[in-house]
Amino acid sequence: MSHKIRTVSCLLVCLAGSALVALSPVTADDKPTLSIKDAMKEHKKGALKDKVLDGSASADEKKKLVDLYTQMAKNKPPKGADDNWKKLNDALIKASKDIVDGKPNGVEDLKKAVNCGACHSAHKAS
Ligand code: HEC
Repeated sequence: MSHKIRTVSCLLVCLAGSALVALSPVTADDKPTLSIKDAMKEHKKGALKDKVLDGSASADEKKKLVDLYTQMAKNKPPKGADDNWKKLNDALIKASKDIVDGKPNGVEDLKKAVNCGACHSAHKAS
């Protein structure tokens, strides 16, 4: 193989590689560290979400819920429109942040935002 051919083929491989990166919808930084199912585990009775709502969560646990929703939002739901998914998650993130910040509306807002049925009928496959 001449030097020139090797250079060209290397260039092609590199180009193909960067095209793949450019095509993927989420960048490496946006990769969720939690799946939606992982996040749902904290929505069982008495789990993290309930502790935050009933006021028994520690400061760290409250922050954990913000992180949970931030990560959940980065996932693509099994079905439903992306903008609706974003809207529902943004409400969860905002309300849980308000709780961390000690805002009086936080708990009420989170109760409204954690609407299991509304989100499941729009975004859960079955
Ligand atoms: C903002 C949207 C949203 C809200 C709010 C929400 N869920 Fe979910 N939930 C989902 C989605 C999407 C799935 C499907 C995940 C999948 O199949 O990957 C799911 C799946 C589940 C599952 C099945 C998990 C599994 O391992 O298959 C349970 C249990 C669950 N949710 C419980 C709840 C409960 C209880 C609440 C309310 C207190 C709730 N969810 C609120 C979006 C939501």
